[in-house]
Amino acid sequence: MQIPAFYIRDLPIYGDTILSPMAAYSDVPFRAICRQFGAAMHYTEFVPTEALLCDPNPLWRRLDVHPAGEQPMVFQIFGNDAQTILRAARRIVAWGADIIDINMGCSVPQISKKGAGVGMMRQPKLVAETFRLLTTHLNVPITGKLRLGWDEANQNYLEIAKIMVDNGAALVALHGRTRTQKYRGQADWEAIAKLKQAVDVPVLGNGDVRTIADIDRLKAHTGCDGVMIGRAALGNPWLLGRIDREQLTFRQITAVLRQHLHEAHSYYGTGDGLKNINRHLKKYLSGLALKPYLRAFREAATVSEFEDLIGEMETAVPSNLPLAKLRKIPHFL
Ligand SMILES: Cc1cc2nc3c(=O)[nH]c(=O)nc-3n(C[C@H](O)[C@H](O)[C@H](O)COP(=O)(O)O)c2cc1C
Repeated sequence: MQIPAFYIRDLPIYGDTILSPMAAYSDVPFRAICRQFGAAMHYTEFVPTEALLCDPNPLWRRLDVHPAGEQPMVFQIFGNDAQTILRAARRIVAWGADIIDINMGCSVPQISKKGAGVGMMRQPKLVAETFRLLTTHLNVPITGKLRLGWDEANQNYLEIAKIMVDNGAALVALHGRTRTQKYRGQADWEAIAKLKQAVDVPVLGNGDVRTIADIDRLKAHTGCDGVMIGRAALGNPWLLGRIDREQLTFRQITAVLRQHLHEAHSYYGTGDGLKNINRHLKKYLSGLALKPYLRAFREAATVSEFEDLIGEMETAVPSNLPLAKLRKIPHFL
């Protein structure tokens, strides 16, 4: 019997690696691939509350759930008004959310300067009201994802996390950077350790996890319950299962690329499916001197053309060598 790594309120989480929410990437097809390798929990791309309260629009698709199921499924939303957030959250519970997460980390000025995303961290009262309303009126656990704060001088993640928990939050995820850092500099794992000490709900640590060793180092350094992985999972879903991509053969990589292609095709259809997989392709091929193929992949008009190109690459690369050894052949890398 599998033992849960931790619980989010009463929901068992079977594993400690979690795919980060990533707009344009953490969609139904990519989540399916990551789940297969061991992602213990799935976040959607974030969705503005306003878009959830008007007529159907394309952003609603971000809250689709794979037909095979993907529990526990976290729907991530953002807004700057507690009542509006509550109305949106109420609506989407019925769409299959196991957990609702409030994004308090987005640094994009159009969002943060309007008081949503990381802009919420400058409004402790709004945070308190939002979590109080949501946890009072909804049955699913409510969680939040933070940054360190607005800028170097205003790192109030501890204050905000305590307010969240005092108002019923069931988990806090922390990306160890400020808004001004965006994705630059080094993520502050010390802050994640401080957060874990300060709250009595599970904590997810996030930022700069690139290798299997990083997953274990972040856990050991901070005591966090789970590790949230973003950019490093792109082209490397194996990381979520602590499988070393460097030890895989090119055929093992292309087998997953093909699977991802089929997931994208069945979810988006041909045109958008090919656009989608092309976004991931460069990442799957990273570290391999296969750039000349990228243009041909972009021009592929059908899934079978795309698959033929994968086949061409496969015949060009020795099939039995792990990437670590392929790297030693100058022609390929
Ligand atoms: C392309 C991209 C899109 C992102 N979209 C979201 C999002 O929708 N919601 C969110 O909370 N964070 C989003 N993030 C931030 C990531 O979830 C994560 O916090 C950040 O990338 C740091 O983790 P990493 O070093 O493992 O990438 C995004 C990051 C990237 C690179």
